[in-house]
Amino acid sequence: MSFALNGPSELLFYVNGRKVLEKNADPEIMLLSYLRKKLHLTGTKYGCGGGGCGACTVMISRYDPGTKKIRHYSANACLLSICSLYGAAVTTVEGIGNTKTRIHPVQERIAKFHGTQCGFCSPGMVMSLYSLLRNISKPSMDQLMEALAGNLCRCTGYRPIVDACKTFCKATDCCQSKQNGICCLDQEENKLLNSEQENGACEKLFQEEEFLPLDPTQEFIFPPELMIVAEKELKRTRVFYGERITWISPVTLRDLLEVKAKYPDAPIVMGNTTVGPDMKLKGIFPSVIISPDGIAELNAVNYIDNGLTIGAGCSLAQLKDILTNMVLELPEEKTQTYQALLKHLKTLAGSQIRNVASLGGNIISRHSTSDLNPLLAVGNCTLNLASKDGKRQIPLNDQFLMRARNSDLKPEEILVSVNIPCSRKWEFVSAFRQAPRQQNALAIVNSGMRVLFEENTNIIRDICIFYGGIGSTTVCAKKFCQKLTGRAWNEDMLGEACRLILDEIFLPASAPGGMVEYKRSLIVSFFFKFYLEVLQNLKIMNPSLCPCLPPECGSVLEDFHSKHYESVLRYQKVDTKQSPQDPIGRPIMHLSGINHATGEAIYCDDMPAYDQELFLAFVTSSRAHAKIVSIDTSEALKLPGVVDVLTGKDLQDVNSFRDFLENEELIATEEVFSVGQLVCAVMADSDVKAKLAARLVKIEYCDLEPLILTIEDAIQHNSFYEPERKIEYGDVDEAFKTVDQILEGEIHIGGQEHFYMETQSMLVVPYGEHKEMDVYVSTQHPKLAQDIVASILRVPSNKIMCHVKRVGGAFGGKVSTTGILAAITAFAANRTGCPVRCILERGEDILITGGRHPYLGKYKVGFMNDGRIMALDIVHYANGGFRLDESIFVIEMGLLKLDNAYKIPNLRCRGLACKTNLPSNTAFRGFGYPQAALITESCITKVAAQSGLPPEKIRMINMYKEMDETFYKQEINASNLIKCWNECMAISSYYARKAMVDDFNKKNYWKKKGIALIPMKFPIGLGSVAAGQAGALVHIYLDGSVLVTHCGIEMGQGVHTKMIQVVSRELGMPMDNIHLRGTSTETIPNANASGGSAVADLNGMALQDACQILLKRLKPIISKNPHGTWKEWAQEAFNQSISLSATGYFRGYEYEMDWGKGEGHPFTYFVYGTACSEVEIDCLTGDHKNIRTDIVMDVGCSINPALDIGQIEGAFIQGVGLYTLEELKYSPEGILYTLGPEQYKIPSFCDIPSEFNVSFLPPSEVAHTLYSSKGLGESAFFLGSSVFFALHDAILAARQDRGFSGVFTLNSPLTPEKIRMACEDKFTKMIPKDEPGSYVPWNICI
Ligand SMILES: Cc1cc2nc3c(=O)[nH]c(=O)nc-3n(C[C@H](O)[C@H](O)[C@H](O)COP(=O)(O)OP(=O)(O)OC[C@H]3O[C@@H](n4cnc5c(N)ncnc54)[C@H](O)[C@@H]3O)c2cc1C
Ligand code: FES
Ligand code: FES
Repeated sequence: MSFALNGPSELLFYVNGRKVLEKNADPEIMLLSYLRKKLHLTGTKYGCGGGGCGACTVMISRYDPGTKKIRHYSANACLLSICSLYGAAVTTVEGIGNTKTRIHPVQERIAKFHGTQCGFCSPGMVMSLYSLLRNISKPSMDQLMEALAGNLCRCTGYRPIVDACKTFCKATDCCQSKQNGICCLDQEENKLLNSEQENGACEKLFQEEEFLPLDPTQEFIFPPELMIVAEKELKRTRVFYGERITWISPVTLRDLLEVKAKYPDAPIVMGNTTVGPDMKLKGIFPSVIISPDGIAELNAVNYIDNGLTIGAGCSLAQLKDILTNMVLELPEEKTQTYQALLKHLKTLAGSQIRNVASLGGNIISRHSTSDLNPLLAVGNCTLNLASKDGKRQIPLNDQFLMRARNSDLKPEEILVSVNIPCSRKWEFVSAFRQAPRQQNALAIVNSGMRVLFEENTNIIRDICIFYGGIGSTTVCAKKFCQKLTGRAWNEDMLGEACRLILDEIFLPASAPGGMVEYKRSLIVSFFFKFYLEVLQNLKIMNPSLCPCLPPECGSVLEDFHSKHYESVLRYQKVDTKQSPQDPIGRPIMHLSGINHATGEAIYCDDMPAYDQELFLAFVTSSRAHAKIVSIDTSEALKLPGVVDVLTGKDLQDVNSFRDFLENEELIATEEVFSVGQLVCAVMADSDVKAKLAARLVKIEYCDLEPLILTIEDAIQHNSFYEPERKIEYGDVDEAFKTVDQILEGEIHIGGQEHFYMETQSMLVVPYGEHKEMDVYVSTQHPKLAQDIVASILRVPSNKIMCHVKRVGGAFGGKVSTTGILAAITAFAANRTGCPVRCILERGEDILITGGRHPYLGKYKVGFMNDGRIMALDIVHYANGGFRLDESIFVIEMGLLKLDNAYKIPNLRCRGLACKTNLPSNTAFRGFGYPQAALITESCITKVAAQSGLPPEKIRMINMYKEMDETFYKQEINASNLIKCWNECMAISSYYARKAMVDDFNKKNYWKKKGIALIPMKFPIGLGSVAAGQAGALVHIYLDGSVLVTHCGIEMGQGVHTKMIQVVSRELGMPMDNIHLRGTSTETIPNANASGGSAVADLNGMALQDACQILLKRLKPIISKNPHGTWKEWAQEAFNQSISLSATGYFRGYEYEMDWGKGEGHPFTYFVYGTACSEVEIDCLTGDHKNIRTDIVMDVGCSINPALDIGQIEGAFIQGVGLYTLEELKYSPEGILYTLGPEQYKIPSFCDIPSEFNVSFLPPSEVAHTLYSSKGLGESAFFLGSSVFFALHDAILAARQDRGFSGVFTLNSPLTPEKIRMACEDKFTKMIPKDEPGSYVPWNICI
């Protein structure tokens, strides 16, 4: 045998043009950690570790000596073992450009289009686009959107990224789609924009003319050495030995078969997209991995008479290219299977996965959700297998998919290639899939369907149907197919077929994955679609064979997911009298934008390792409520490299914190109250060892009663946090007696995971002197971290310095829990005397931290027949989890904001925070308002349905008048609310489009459109005066430069940029003279948490104060030398012994709220807005498309319109996520299933409206705020509900068509499952229903 296992091979690859030789390559080391830790290239980020987020995207280039071509492709560094990189050239974000030499046009445009906020996703975005452009210099929009589908961003809402990327597209690539009957280039539609531009109300956010051109000659060339190696090097099997895994890379088929015979249990790793996640997430570590490299037979493509033979090693991206060519070359009748495969290959995963995942890997893995297997199976594909003993062929059929012994690969066999036959005349193949999100999401159910007819008839000669997502693997409806053979393709057949299929494809009520009734309905809905598709095709083949499709059915076969995006932004223009040097009101780019895009922006885990640094990993509870019987750390401690394991006992009397409830512990000692609660902390000399050891800690539990998980459980057990909050306004009981109608209802709103892209991160460095410690932590609240650390170490706070350079997204999730994690890390650092780093993995982060509170709202509403709401009695329940955290405050804010835009003359509201055995829910953008306002708007929608009036009419009738009073008796001037509403109605052409929607709905039965206009009033207030105080520090140096500090945290919202704008205006100096380094408890003490939309307001005023103090001191000097420079003034001040440093302070907003009386003045001002959204739904699948959204916002006078638009769009899309997409799933035992991007779907590129327009009201005065600006971080989140209500409108239309009238309830999020099940029809009636209580469901609604 030619491979030698007696000596390790040397690994050779290139990174950014530099050679890397690794003598002891460990197969367990992924490229991501190698880049970050070994090569110190920290631009490539960790976001999930499982291929689901794209933060780690790099470009891989390989030379193929056969074709003499170089292939460039994007890939996820988190899934690439370094051992798989032999001969490859890796390009990272640092390799394409940087601020020291030259930035790349891709980096420049993403930054200058304001496509970065926290910047954590930006290097990945840059690399996906860069890789595309290396292959296609002028891509089409379709190619662009496909290339970006594997990248997630939690901040921007994607629109600016799309706009930046579009500048590289073909100039003629307009939307081409005529969405709403209008093309993006149509003059009519852009008229408003143009006329406004002429009026000076609108500007571009960037100057395209200034952009660097894309110049392919400037790119790295492929390293010639690697070409020579590929051409000349002897083809020898390479072997790499790791601590646990041996990696064998055979380079010929013969060697591969020999190795496989020797190690029959070893997996064949191609793309590593199944084996990799299994190793990481399930801890399955094979001792040997076989990874074929460059074996011709595995990559060959042979065109045979009736089809194709494709090497099993071909990537899915290559498969797509091959099939695309076939479809172009062959007559359509021959390419049915190929077209069906292509349909799925477009949406299967992201491009990074498709570029590496292999055809063979997808087939052999036999995932239940494989998109290819159902199609390959119906397409009569065969598998060419080989082993040392010879070759054979087996069919890819139900037996193979079920792993039946005689129809499967033998352990020593490998799959060499796959035969995919052409289809025949009178044969039709279709592909169906429905996923939680249109792109980059595993299917809930998918299907491949094929039918062959007797020539020139509609008589079925052969039919074959496979479904994925139903059982543990792809399943075949075999009996069904046998029974249908010989039948005519008509309505009679359809009815019987649906019954047969449901009988055969059985799905138990407790099936893993849940959504059982939905899946059952998809089984028949897909078949119905197939039925229609085939009818249409038969009709084309021979019009006499079947009747025409009824016109109202045809549209259901059209794909409504366009990949064309348009936007119009209208914002306030700066007064022409304003000095050109004054940056206030101008769309200044985020000051870290370029650094984000080049990967130079430093986040906590990008800090270099300290000498003797340790890593800390947590062990968390696996039970929701249990007594800890024992903790056995012995196995963990035995592992080499493990230093210590901390338990609650080690913390003894410092295991709590003064702000917590009495029995709350940092680390659980006796009892656990939630899955994910911290139980131990393991310290080791590497992250890998710490995590490995954490898995070895054995904890014995004894379950305890009661187990309270859901809001209903809490109500039943009376399990609430104190106090209950209540407000009563007017005379509710009396009002109910006089109203025309009364309606009662409830709505449940699911929780939301923050899913900031940078997971919880901290690095604690003990100084060894005076017990001082530096805590580098990704938090919104450094003071809290400082306090908990000081408390756990029993040192005064002045010994603990917390530093935050920037945070990779937070949204409320990096406040309290971060402090606890930092404190335990500090305890470990103190105990060992070593620096300790703790970076949570994505799954741990989601498990431990909690998120937005799930809500249950119950209401009784009394109204008049003309739509006036006279009385509302409402109760909010929030699921708070096991720790109090901010739950009462969330409840309070939810109650105070529940009126949204409406004056309700008689209102009684109560709010209760439920104490449950779930991770503690906490602050999240909007802080109770998104749930509270949805409850109210849902109630209004029901009033509309009940009274038969249009919802917008009910909204208008009940809206606040210009001067009015809220139910807590605060005065309100709502004129801008009304202006936003009217302007949005005009800009969106609401009534005209509503008429078009109605018209569409009349003509279409299975597709429906909906439109909704939702107003928003978001009050700004922080709960106390003290919560609004802010401090700032400004130093002027003798060279005239200025260093600024304030207590706001830069977490993507651009607060540092705005603050520099403020200082620039106040001191009258250019922005580039001013620097801001970060936030630290050392420079500004006792700072509040950054949040509540007011960070720029408060800190801006503190900075203004500091600047004014300095100016006052310098006034005599400046007056004496008015044309002097800052350098001269500073020098003169120094000479005169005048201090050039000043602190500034803002004491906070006035606040007054008496909860006893239920009245006060809790808010400083209100932000107003309105959104109009239009959607289209597919009633058969529950799929939907966001067609268009128009937002009009009252921003006061914007300090930076680019950043403000970014906040509005980002919040809106996050809101769309809450209300339509993001779903946390818990087991009945309280175990969270949705632990990463694979299971928990945040909005992606495909979720932004095809047309997305944002405009500001003209500037208006706002009392008490900085330059009359308004805080915009949270408010627009709720406008995402316009999509929810547009969906509601579409569902209503569907229900009316089907004869359902009256009020119905839709809970949030409105996922495809809920949409489909609400569109009840003959198919949902057919499906078997399980009696609640007769089974244990897979998941529960918390
Ligand atoms: C984020 C993400 C999203 C995804 N989304 C989708 C999706 O939407 N739809 C979908 O269908 N799939 C999806 N997948 C699954 C993906 O398509 C498969 O993981 C992939 O096709 C497997 O190919 P691979 O080369 O990476 O396999 P590997 O992980 O390298 O290997 C997988 C298995 O196949 C075996 N194997 C591989 N090649 C051979 C061979 N030639 N002979 C014998 N055995 C072999 C290995 O032994 C191993 O057991 C997704 C995966 C990820 C990580
Ligand atoms: S970190 Fe690699 S895809 Fe998320
Ligand atoms: S900017 Fe994209 S995740 Fe923050």
